[in-house]
Amino acid sequence: MSPTTSSRTFWSMTVLLTSPALAFNTFLHTRQADSSFDWTAITPTADLQYHPCYTNFQCARLRVPLDWSRTNGTTPPLNSNSTGGPFAAIALVTLPATVPSSNPAYAGPILINPGGPSGSGTGMALQLASMIQALVDVPGERHYDIVGFDPRGVALTTPSASCYESHYDRSADTIRAAGLPSVVTEQGLKMRFQMGRGVGELCAQANPGEESVFRYVSTATVARDMLEIVERSHELVVKAQRTNGTAKGCGGGGGEKPRLQYLGFSYGSILGNTFASMFPGRVGRMVLDGIADADDYMTATWSKNLIDAEAAIDHFYQTCFDAGSGCALRQPTDTSSADIRTRISTLLAFLQQSPVSAIHNGRLYAVTSFLISEAIRVSLYSPIATYEPLSLALADALSGNFSRILSNPNVMLRDTRLDVCVEQTPSTPPQTYIHSEEVALGIICGDSYSSSTTHDFPSATSLVSRILNQSATVGEAWTKIPLSCTNWPFRPTYSFTGPFGSPAPDNSSGNTTSATPLLILSTRTDHATPLANAYALSALHDGSAVVVQESVGHCALLSSVSQCTYGIVREYFRSGTVPANGTVCEAECEPAIPFRACPGLSEI
Ligand SMILES: *[C@@H]1O[C@H](CO)[C@@H](O)[C@H](O)[C@H]1NC(C)=O
Ligand SMILES: *[C@@H]1O[C@H](CO)[C@@H](O)[C@H](O)[C@H]1NC(C)=O
Ligand SMILES: *[C@@H]1O[C@H](CO)[C@@H](O)[C@H](O)[C@H]1NC(C)=O
Ligand SMILES: *[C@@H]1O[C@H](CO)[C@@H](O)[C@H](O)[C@H]1NC(C)=O
Ligand SMILES: *[C@@H]1O[C@H](CO)[C@@H](O)[C@H](O)[C@H]1NC(C)=O
Ligand SMILES: *[C@@H]1O[C@H](CO)[C@@H](O)[C@H](O)[C@H]1NC(C)=O
Ligand SMILES: *[C@@H]1O[C@H](CO)[C@@H](O)[C@H](O)[C@H]1NC(C)=O
Ligand SMILES: *[C@@H]1O[C@H](CO)[C@@H](O)[C@H](O)[C@H]1NC(C)=O
Repeated sequence: MSPTTSSRTFWSMTVLLTSPALAFNTFLHTRQADSSFDWTAITPTADLQYHPCYTNFQCARLRVPLDWSRTNGTTPPLNSNSTGGPFAAIALVTLPATVPSSNPAYAGPILINPGGPSGSGTGMALQLASMIQALVDVPGERHYDIVGFDPRGVALTTPSASCYESHYDRSADTIRAAGLPSVVTEQGLKMRFQMGRGVGELCAQANPGEESVFRYVSTATVARDMLEIVERSHELVVKAQRTNGTAKGCGGGGGEKPRLQYLGFSYGSILGNTFASMFPGRVGRMVLDGIADADDYMTATWSKNLIDAEAAIDHFYQTCFDAGSGCALRQPTDTSSADIRTRISTLLAFLQQSPVSAIHNGRLYAVTSFLISEAIRVSLYSPIATYEPLSLALADALSGNFSRILSNPNVMLRDTRLDVCVEQTPSTPPQTYIHSEEVALGIICGDSYSSSTTHDFPSATSLVSRILNQSATVGEAWTKIPLSCTNWPFRPTYSFTGPFGSPAPDNSSGNTTSATPLLILSTRTDHATPLANAYALSALHDGSAVVVQESVGHCALLSSVSQCTYGIVREYFRSGTVPANGTVCEAECEPAIPFRACPGLSEI
């Protein structure tokens, strides 16, 4: 899957920020919107009105009720601005199918979600839609629209879920947080616990009251929005077919309600699972790749992410050891990869007790174990791209040079002086997506509001020791997520926390509650969304099947290239059939040190 000439980068990276709060990331960077399209020129509408944008895409702002609970989940009458109260405007970027909707080969929209939970679907569409379309289209037979949308609070969707007026303040807070004492120390744990309380207050001050955007960013809300996108898209197709005199029967679909076709990565698996569980009769096709456990997530238990993290790290050390002198992190006296592991563990243990300082680009930083843990955590998402830079950064760190750690684009803010215009009104799409960390907290902390396990210090303590026990290397970085929810003040108005699952496909006539089987993908070794979660998800959705790709990294389709996996995905979208549960696909590339390119792998 390679980006073709028609795909382009939507958000050009200006600030190099990754939030540890973005648990299940695929899209992490703070990005500057491509200014070739003026989003403020689009008036949000309750019907779907597309506008040409970014050369070969179509853009829209879909008006939906801010609060689906106020309408009991039903759509207010179209073109009515008096019912349904305040609204949100969902930003969509669609790569249209290569045939018109009147063509029998037109196969409808596929919605995509990049994870995060605050990843930008519009950004992903601009970057990967043409590649995804090439993957799923069957020439002359099936041609899809690829639809990226920004979930509530995210990127170009309004209102924005942001807690800072100035990006300088945000960066300063991020850098300060990275320099706190380690959570393995009592003082560090207390400090992070208190900072978690503080961030909730900060967001409440910036977004006070009933109408606070943070009450309306739940996963259930986004699932309902997806249903709205499906219905409004269908309506558009029916209208076009009527105009062209090609409408099939009544309503273009024989009266059956239109169904979602969906490809979700990482946290996008929770979004998909939520949709399938809330609206089981409305799933047409659903591919979930890189599976997070929805119950574990909704209950803020955090015991189902890092199961394979140390195995993933061992793969990195082994790759380095096997590289011999080609890996800077290996020393001539090493007799196995365990020697490399020992050096890194020692470095982490040292920094946990004795942080050091480093000067980088004219700024002074505290170098903590958190920073090293985070550098390793973020690198393990895409091993092919990151093993070599990680080996160099860790080798330098062992010799006391932290420049590469501090300049890792996924770890730290570099340009804190970025001049960002804050959006003028809550309904104006921002020029730059800088609030991804806050919206991630809004989604994660809000989804688990009712059962958060960290509201009091003793339970936060036991949660942290459980996470550290699961992964000594990246556990510390991971603890920042639940510890940011200690005092989250926003209870979502519209939520769904289970039970998760969908019934068996049912052929009885007129029964629309049955679901199409889900296709579930995972790599063999994923440090953030382990394979076990894929099997557990499958057990909840009758007829579903897991495909295991023999690769390491986060999400099968994003971490390597496998014609076998691609073929299964294409056939599933075409016919709705899944292969045998547990089917294994070989991958065409492996991570290597020094770096070895993987032809066809999309870099996102
Ligand atoms: C939502 O449902 C409740 C209970 O069934 C009902 O009282 C209320 O009027 C409904 N609200 C709307 C906007 O339909
Ligand atoms: C509703 O829409 C009409 C026509 O677009 C406009 O004149 C009116 O001000 C709107 N009302 C509200 C409450 O926004
Ligand atoms: C209508 O049909 C014509 C001829 O087949 C085609 O070129 C056009 O794109 C169609 N329009 C829509 C909206 O499907
Ligand atoms: C630290 O490492 C970087 C990157 O390898 C290098 O450019 C720099 O000169 C080093 N700094 C010192 C003080 O050795
Ligand atoms: C730590 O993990 C081990 C297995 O890896 C387990 O046996 C032990 O009970 C765990 N301890 C805690 C405190 O969770
Ligand atoms: C349902 O329909 C599918 C395809 O039409 C068929 O393969 C399957 O056997 C049917 N299942 C039942 C229970 O009738
Ligand atoms: C449709 O199928 C579902 C799941 O098998 C079942 O729970 C429901 O009762 C069925 N509805 C009708 C009207 O047969
Ligand atoms: C697929 O296999 C896994 C692991 O054996 C199992 O837990 C799951 O229930 C299976 N899925 C279905 C739909 O039977």
